[in-house]
Amino acid sequence: MDAKPLFLYALCGSQREVSTNRRLLTILRDHAPDGVTIEICDLIGDLPIFNPDREGENTPEIVERLGAKMRDADGVIVACPEYAHGLPGGLKNALDWLVSRDEVPFKPVMIAHASHRGDFALGQLTEVLKTMSFDIVAEAHLRIGLLGKDDAAQAAVLDAAMRDGVIVNALAKFCGHVRKVSLYKGI
Ligand SMILES: Cc1cc2nc3c(=O)[nH]c(=O)nc-3n(C[C@H](O)[C@H](O)[C@H](O)COP(=O)(O)O)c2cc1C
Repeated sequence: MDAKPLFLYALCGSQREVSTNRRLLTILRDHAPDGVTIEICDLIGDLPIFNPDREGENTPEIVERLGAKMRDADGVIVACPEYAHGLPGGLKNALDWLVSRDEVPFKPVMIAHASHRGDFALGQLTEVLKTMSFDIVAEAHLRIGLLGKDDAAQAAVLDAAMRDGVIVNALAKFCGHVRKVSLYKGI
């Protein structure tokens, strides 16, 4: 029997044109195994600032679109930089919009990180995702040091990580977990 197709939604915490975190997500997207589609969220930079008064029937349309993508997603991948020893505000804002909604609880999430630094942000991200009842898949954690490297050096690091299987293995572990919990849920 063919495995159920998976849809993974990727949140990037950097809005930079040449973001290393987006590059890592792009590599994951482009090397997704057969039957797995990864879409990188392009809504984060356009979300209004979270306001609980604008939840429920007052929810902005763009937030509903984010919620719909999260609902459709079998799993979520998050990659973000560290800013001033913290989470990027735009990503935290996107997560805040999702806190009181029903799409997130028990949704598997993979954390990817494109820097050898940023442990404060990783710690905060983990705490926030845990508090939101995401299912953090620790064995799929992926960390590739692209920070401070020019385009060619980044490409060399990513090529080596592809050759070593680090990227593909992390994604395979995540997809394996997502499939396993989908079976438990009977979907
Ligand atoms: C305003 C600002 C604050 C930053 N603060 C930190 C920091 O506290 N710790 C750190 O390791 N890097 C810090 N950085 C560096 C970014 O985390 C780093 O450049 C990251 O790799 C950028 O990710 P991106 O390429 O996906 O945009 C900061 C960068 C900016 C622009």
